[in-house]
Amino acid sequence: MAVVIVVGAQWGDEGKGKVVDLLTERARYVVRWAGGANAGHTLVVDGKKYVTRLIPSGVLRSGVTCVLGEAMVVDPTVLVDEVRAFRAQGFLARHEDLVVAARAHLTLPYHRELDRLRDERPDNTIGTTRKGIGPTYESKAARIGLRVGDLLHPDRFRLQLARQIEALLPQLTALGGAAPDATEIAAHYLALGQELRPYIADASKLVHEAITRGDNVMFEGAQGVLLDIDHGTYPYVTSSSATAGGACAGLGIGPTAIDTVLGIAKGYATRVGGGPFPTELKDATGDLLRKRGNEFGSVTGRPRRCGWLDLPALRLAIRTSGIEGLALTKLDVLSGLERVRICVGYRVGGQTLEEMPLDIDDLAAAEPIYEDLDGWPAPGSADTPPSATKAAARFVARVGELVGRPVWATSWGAGRAETILTLDPFASADAAV
Ligand code: IMO
Ligand code: MG
Repeated sequence: MAVVIVVGAQWGDEGKGKVVDLLTERARYVVRWAGGANAGHTLVVDGKKYVTRLIPSGVLRSGVTCVLGEAMVVDPTVLVDEVRAFRAQGFLARHEDLVVAARAHLTLPYHRELDRLRDERPDNTIGTTRKGIGPTYESKAARIGLRVGDLLHPDRFRLQLARQIEALLPQLTALGGAAPDATEIAAHYLALGQELRPYIADASKLVHEAITRGDNVMFEGAQGVLLDIDHGTYPYVTSSSATAGGACAGLGIGPTAIDTVLGIAKGYATRVGGGPFPTELKDATGDLLRKRGNEFGSVTGRPRRCGWLDLPALRLAIRTSGIEGLALTKLDVLSGLERVRICVGYRVGGQTLEEMPLDIDDLAAAEPIYEDLDGWPAPGSADTPPSATKAAARFVARVGELVGRPVWATSWGAGRAETILTLDPFASADAAV
């Protein structure tokens, strides 16, 4: 058995859904620990595309239980839509296929509204997904939050809702927002609560019991380490813990239970929203990566900013999440380029840095130092991945060498068959038993 944490090692959108979907072949539980409907994980199975927002990427495997952990923020309208859509397609057939932590906090309509109103202000440069993530975590930290379990206690729900609205009203009205209708919200959300009732449980305890039994458990990161509220490029971050440690804190699972951490990175870099991005390509190559990699937000449709692979950023992710192995994804997007660049360090104010500095002014001033590698030809077909070509293999090996971590998986397209897994942490744990 093994307990594996998978994190995004960049600014999100690293192809986590795809790698998690593949690794879940051996997992019994797939657990999300942070964030909410700001995530968008794309899975392509048998040519069909699925996008998950709140539900972990284990959803397409029968016999896998998907868990929404305690430190997540759950928008019940999104969750109910997602549950209905997957059930209509034959997934989540048994109620035990999905567990939603009773203690996860609820995103309510005015959290989304606040997020949008703030984001629309011209002086706001963060560019959030407008899913209400920041405001929901603020309510949680201010101890005026409503939680998933409250949906099953109507009187308590109404009382806390009134308190929360009272606290947030001044902010809403100052930004030109309308006063929320508590009666209408209560009626709508309590009805959604009844639909979610079979799934609501103590996720922490359930995952703990699974680990104690010896089941394979995968923690699936959302967002990416560089969007972590403490260790990311603050203030251009999300409002939760995207580092591997967040999985332990988020579920209330001790760090001693974790066997390994896998970090996922694309062969290039992207970010959505504002903030410094030293390797950004504002030229035709950037446009090419965006087009070929379909780098448009799966939640908001925004074009993603694209650039070369940034190893100082990756080193920061490796250090702060204890990443032991890497998966490099979307390598097919780079194929056909004559030359592929890797940023191996930064020059900042006369100094050379190997790891990304987190002082926002230093980061904005960072000049990338590049190493250039030969490109590789475009793949002929899905079953002859370009790893067969020497230049692509050299790129993969060089990345591993420069960050001092082995590459456990490479991926060359969207489908399950287009991933080469050289080390499956679950399979090797099973083999070791
Ligand atoms: P997945 O799981 C990419 C970014 C937003 C914005 C910042 C804050 O698909 O990798 P928020 O709405 O969280 O308050 O926005 O964080 N962001 C993401 N970017 N992928 C994500 O998730 C993201 N989740 C948040 O673009 O810059
Ligand atoms: Mg995304």
